[in-house]
Amino acid sequence: IKRIGVLTGGGDAPGLNAVIRAVVKVTIREYGLSVIGFLNGFGGLIKNQARELTEKDVVGILPRGGTILGTTNRDNPFHYPVVKGGKKVFVDVSDRIFENISIHGVDALIVIGGDGSLAIAKELHAKGLSVVGVPKTIDNDLLATDQTFGFDTALTTATEALDKLHTTAESHHRVMVLEVMGRYAGWIALAAGVAGGADVILIPEIPYRIEKVIEMINQREVQGKKFSIIVVAEGAKPVDGELVVQKRVEDSFDPIRLGGIGHVVAQQVEEATGKETRVTILGHLQRGGSPTAFDRILATRYGTGAVRLVMEGRFGHMVCLRGTTIDAVPLTEATGQIRSVPLDSDLLLSARQLGICLGD
Ligand code: F6P
Repeated sequence: IKRIGVLTGGGDAPGLNAVIRAVVKVTIREYGLSVIGFLNGFGGLIKNQARELTEKDVVGILPRGGTILGTTNRDNPFHYPVVKGGKKVFVDVSDRIFENISIHGVDALIVIGGDGSLAIAKELHAKGLSVVGVPKTIDNDLLATDQTFGFDTALTTATEALDKLHTTAESHHRVMVLEVMGRYAGWIALAAGVAGGADVILIPEIPYRIEKVIEMINQREVQGKKFSIIVVAEGAKPVDGELVVQKRVEDSFDPIRLGGIGHVVAQQVEEATGKETRVTILGHLQRGGSPTAFDRILATRYGTGAVRLVMEGRFGHMVCLRGTTIDAVPLTEATGQIRSVPLDSDLLLSARQLGICLGD
């Protein structure tokens, strides 16, 4: 091995730069090899957008959010949009990746990404590419790792938001609804709700009954608690309702925001309780900014771990966290499924025992 390639794919997450920095430093310092960064996710690899990364390029990026390489959640090489005869069709352009990898003399590729990017990495490995994965998503819903980097930062942002909403809710005797990210899993909502002292937490894993939420607000009123805080994961849904956030499968991985479940909950609560209710959708604030110390460390351990996997020739694997230890897992076991909050999880039990309403 002489040269390692690296790319960041999918939605960004705080800590991406920390992984890149670790990959570059270890590859150059420890092994005396060079690093090529492919720009803008798999798109850059398909279009041959690349640049060498030196130690100088990673100076000062450890605390920086985003990714110096750029990213996108489009550009799947196995399902790449091209216009043929005036019509958009999808074709397999994965051969271009092999060509560009060889043009740059890259012997192994490190893919830092979520489920979509890791699934592409898995397919490329099956086609013969020497690839290693690093798990990323603020949602923390990737199979085969106990934690993704980015989650802790998003959780901290959501918790800070709840602290701020508390003081204004209390002053105005209002109900505050905070909608947080988490399309398929409620990790951010549950953890932030517990950390931020929420009264109600609604997550995709537990379809909710709005009557339960209303009951909670009314009970608090009777107890003289004139304000309430509700955390809703964007993917939460009522028992007989539809998901508000839906996934566009046609030509990208982008979800279409058709409304916002936070608004749905707020309107129903206001109508039923007569209490003034306000909604905050935290959105991409959760994806931006400087990573927490925890995420910087986890991202750094993932980056160094990924280079070790490359040097050991353990291709087709992804670094992961098991308990407190960095480990590796085959990409075939790491993609294609969501890691939901287990219904018997200790944190969920703690929330229940604290009297937090989970909508069921
Ligand atoms: O998967 C990460 C995530 O931040 C989700 O929580 C959210 O639904 C989605 O990405 C938003 O994606 P985009 O930035 O493409 O709108």
